[in-house]
Amino acid sequence: MLTECLDGLAIRPEGIYVDVTFGGGGHSRAILNQLTTGRLFAFDQDPDAHEQSKLISHPGFTLIPANFRFIRQYLRVHGVLQVDGILADLGISSHQIDTPERGFSTRFDGALDMRMNPTVGMSARDLLAEASVEELHRYLGMYGEIKNAKTTAQALVSARSIRPLNTIADLKAVLQPLAPRGKEFKFFAQVFQAIRIVVNEEMAVLEEFLQQVPVVLKPGGRLVVMAYHSLEDRPVKNFIRSGKFYGDVEKDFFGNEIKPLRAITRKAIEASPEEVARNPRARSAKLRIAEPNL
Ligand SMILES: C[S@@+](CC[C@H](N)C(=O)[O-])C[C@H]1O[C@@H](n2cnc3c(N)ncnc32)[C@H](O)[C@@H]1O
Repeated sequence: MLTECLDGLAIRPEGIYVDVTFGGGGHSRAILNQLTTGRLFAFDQDPDAHEQSKLISHPGFTLIPANFRFIRQYLRVHGVLQVDGILADLGISSHQIDTPERGFSTRFDGALDMRMNPTVGMSARDLLAEASVEELHRYLGMYGEIKNAKTTAQALVSARSIRPLNTIADLKAVLQPLAPRGKEFKFFAQVFQAIRIVVNEEMAVLEEFLQQVPVVLKPGGRLVVMAYHSLEDRPVKNFIRSGKFYGDVEKDFFGNEIKPLRAITRKAIEASPEEVARNPRARSAKLRIAEPNL
């Protein structure tokens, strides 16, 4: 949905834009192609993405090798207080999923890492070694949305008491007998999703980021967010609709609604059947566009 993202940003050639998820740089390059004197700041927390960014020579381009949960702070470091547009293409990149040693994919064997920035924080291996049954139960239920979350959590804890879970193969060996017959791949993917979300603190990061958006966007500026699962899309949708991640819109003393953003499209934009045929990952993508509500 590259075209839809670019249209959503309503790019002005002299504007200032932020791509908070540089990845392989596809969206960033397309934005830069539309800029003349404008500038693009791109965030990514993955050192592999930083290597990719070195291939870009546009004078208006700056890579910020950091987590986008600190968007406001880092932009300020670069002397920027407000911008014309922010793009977030959430989740992991195809490079991350296709690199076995990063541990994101159920298709390979490799170390259980799953950190987007492998230099900080707790890896999937550490999480599986340290989390209690109750914590694992909660993570698998909330972020994996699996039905037998408690049994799976218990199985993981008893397996690790015999032998540490170091690799993807170790994890899959524990999961295999618990997976619904014929739906093993989906089950593995749900468990991996839950672990990835916890390891990278994805929900907290998304909320911290969204809260800064109304302050960072200029009046008339655009927020474009692409999410690939409902756990991510729901808080984006709620925040755009009500200024809150859960619950209803707040009202001020006079009963006026306090809504920092206003949706540009009533419903999320989804990929066309042609795009899904070309890129199956686009099947679950939901694109939402908003601007400050003044
Ligand atoms: C789906 S990919 C983006 C692909 C990109 N739009 C392109 O055209 O290649 C998401 C990227 O965002 C990065 N990322 C995800 N969460 C992040 C965060 N909180 N802070 C910084 N980068 C993040 C990941 O490391 C990954 O490279």
